[in-house]
Formats: sequence, structure tokens, C-alpha cells
Amino acid sequence: MKLKPTKYIWMDGKFVQWKNATVHLITHTLHYGAGAFEGVRFYDTPKGTAVFRLADHTKRLFYSAKAIGVKMPYSQKQINEVVVKLLKKNGVKSGYIRPLVWYGEGHMGVNPKGAPINVAIASWPWGAYLAQESIKMMTSSFIRIHPQSTVADAKINGHYANSIQAVLEVKKKGFDEALFLDYKGNVAEGAAENIFMVKKGVVITPPVGSILPGITRDSIMKLAKDLGYKVIEKTIKLKDLYGADEVFLTGTAAEVVPVRQIDKKTIAKGKVGPVTKALNVAFMDIVAGKNQKYKKWLTYVK
Ligand SMILES: Cc1ncc(COP(=O)(O)O)c(C=O)c1O
Repeated sequence: MKLKPTKYIWMDGKFVQWKNATVHLITHTLHYGAGAFEGVRFYDTPKGTAVFRLADHTKRLFYSAKAIGVKMPYSQKQINEVVVKLLKKNGVKSGYIRPLVWYGEGHMGVNPKGAPINVAIASWPWGAYLAQESIKMMTSSFIRIHPQSTVADAKINGHYANSIQAVLEVKKKGFDEALFLDYKGNVAEGAAENIFMVKKGVVITPPVGSILPGITRDSIMKLAKDLGYKVIEKTIKLKDLYGADEVFLTGTAAEVVPVRQIDKKTIAKGKVGPVTKALNVAFMDIVAGKNQKYKKWLTYVK
């Protein structure tokens, strides 16, 4: 997806012009993939721009950084403050924020010890990620990264080579998004989203272990419970998914996306189901600042 540049990117303590936010070719993470990042959305609300669950994203950024041996040179509070300042300076009302931590210039060899630690935060306007009312998924022949191969629940740059392989594979076959099974053959998640199914009114999602435990996943689970649905985390088989009444994806970029088909199987009648619809509407109200019950999830840019 081609991006529309904004004015500034924050890089290692300074706001620099978008075009000047560059790195050297001999940057450790560029070669070996051990970086950590986040994806955060900000929304236009009646009380101005607000960032959705900023503190939780920053907390996960620090968790992911730690997983690759990085000691963050800033506090979580400082990062949160920088995000707000950046959004103020860029003046965009809604979009996406990308904090990134990487091993920098001048060190090669797999061991990152001694490489400089760099931190940057960019933001840009970003519309719908999957850009359709409902999508078709295909089960990838690649499995989601094995939890004993890496810290699978951290958001580490290199993990996305796994997602990219899967996306390239399914796009070639005309599908919109890849579905990952885990190393046990159970349903894991999408290439960049968590997955939910609804069966007889119960909202079901795979447990943590092989997935990235999404902040949207957590929000939807809380919201669904508050709306009176039974919510359970349990192992899902592909055949359970095929036989679901509804299937949807959640993610910061994707938000809530109904799935109408998986492989050759149309889900229920291929229409957006009532539970998905109710959760989607309620979620979009929350992020748009229209539900005071969840105002603690919003950080206003003032
Ligand atoms: C692999 C993967 N799973 C799940 C998610 C959803 O996580 P979140 O809701 O925190 O954006 C993402 C997106 O960040 C992802 O990349």
C-alpha cells in the first residue's frame, strides 16, 4: 500500500522531516530482522483526535523489544508523550502510528551485542486495510511461526517474513487474506489479524500460544462479554471454522472484518452475521469516542 507522507517522523529523540528519516545500509535489523514494532490507530472523535489503547501498544512494544534483547532507552511514558506530540505536529486527524525499535548502524554478525539501539515513530493517514465489506481467506501451506522457534507472541519484524510468505501464496490464488494453522494443525490467526468464530451465539477465538495476542482481540473479547455474549478461548479446528455461523478477523489495521469464505467453503450464507455486525458497530463507536464506558481506552491529542 502506497502511503501519503506526513510532515514529521520522530527519530532518536528528534522530529525530522519525513524525507530525512533514513537509515544506513549497514543497519543490523535490515539484515537480520531483529527489530520490534507496533501498529496503533488514531481516530477523529467529537473531542478531537484520540489514540486507541496507546499505553497497551507501548507496553507490548517494550515486551517485544525485550524479547530481542533490547533495553529501551526511553520510558513507556516518554514514548506515549512522543506519540501525542507527533500527532499534534503532523496535524492529521485519523490514521496509523508505527513505533519501531531496531539495531542500528555499524555492527554485523548475528549477535547484536554492541549495536546501537534506535527508536522511531512515524504516523500517516490510513484507511481500511482489507478494503472490503467481507473477505475470502485461504489456509496457507505455511504454518504460523512455532512458539519454540521464537517469542511468537512478540511483534518482531522478522516474524513478518512468515506472514509475507502466506500472503503472497494466497493472493496468487485470488484470496484476500491468509489463514495460518499452528504447528499442531489448529487454527491460529490471519497474516496480520486475530480470528474469531461465532457458533450458536457463542464467540470463540483460539487461545494464546501460537498467536500474536492482539489488542483488538482483547478489546473485542471485553466488548462481547459486556454486550452479553459468552466468549471463550479454545482450540479451533479448520472444520469448526468451516461450520461456523460467522467468522471475523480483528486487528489494529484491519479493525473488524467479516469473513465470507474460507478455502472453498462459504461461511453460513456468505453474508455478514448479526454478532459480527453488532461487535463491529460497537467497536467503531468506541474508537470514535461515542461510548463513554470505554473512554479509558482513548488518549486525546491535546
Ligand atoms: C500476526 C498478527 N496477529 C494479530 C494482529 C492483531 O493485533 P492488534 O489487534 O494488536 O493489532 C496483528 C496486528 O498487529 C498481527 O500482525
